[in-house]
Amino acid sequence: KDKVTIHTLKRLKQSGQKICMVTAYDATFARILDEGGADVLLVGDSLGMVIQGQDSTLPVTMDQMVYHSAAVSRGAKRAHVVGDMPFMSYQVSPQEAVRNAGRLVSEGNVGSVKLEGGAEFADTVRAIVRASIPVMGHLGLTPQSVHKMGGYVVQGRDEDAARRMLDDALALEAAGAYAMVLEGVPLELARTITQSLKIPTIGIGAGKHCDGQVLVCYDLLGMNPDFKPKFVKRFANLHGNITEAANTFFDEVRAGTFPDEDHSFKATKGIRLVTPT
Ligand code: KIV
Ligand code: NA
Repeated sequence: KDKVTIHTLKRLKQSGQKICMVTAYDATFARILDEGGADVLLVGDSLGMVIQGQDSTLPVTMDQMVYHSAAVSRGAKRAHVVGDMPFMSYQVSPQEAVRNAGRLVSEGNVGSVKLEGGAEFADTVRAIVRASIPVMGHLGLTPQSVHKMGGYVVQGRDEDAARRMLDDALALEAAGAYAMVLEGVPLELARTITQSLKIPTIGIGAGKHCDGQVLVCYDLLGMNPDFKPKFVKRFANLHGNITEAANTFFDEVRAGTFPDEDHSFKATKGIRLVTPT
């Protein structure tokens, strides 16, 4: 199985085959999802919410993204690994953005980076691409702009906003982005953007016309019964499975049936054990 590259992803769009992306935050999940057929593993700054328990992605730091990126990269064999640029790692200047993108590559061992925003970040995208680091864009409901958006609200619903998002998509492509995430976008707008670009779009809450799809792994696996937005489908009930497994373990410990002989070690035959006095 050949390693997936940014060129593989462009060819998938050209041949009409869907791109499969999923988030991962550690080596064990990366290995499982890679072997499960992921084309792309995204080390998302969503880790602020699902790993750290924060109520937004804003507190996530570069050091944390580097740490998780390195872990995911060790677990990925075939999949292309993308590292998210966290809040304030690329907004201040293109120079800081290049430095931080470089850390995700050299220390986190990712194959590309992702950042949120449109035409206003075209120069930043261009600067990172100039450093030979491929960039994935991210438009629509961009969680790092939660305060500007006034909440996690679907973007691009009216004609003006839709036109601006299409312009942003074209600006990112012109700046050298190799793909882009469309998040929380009406499916008609996502279709128009997808048809207007040569580079692939990867949707989350953006309908079926995108060139690929992405979900947060904990969401698709059903880890949090209290989080059920419209765009998430649960393909498993790990919350239920984990609860059941843990309960069975605790029951057996309390009943004294675990560990049994099969899960215990025996001393070497014939040795004399000294009894403590
Ligand atoms: O951080 C993340 O998980 C993401 C995806 C939802 C696209 O950016
Ligand atoms: Na993200």
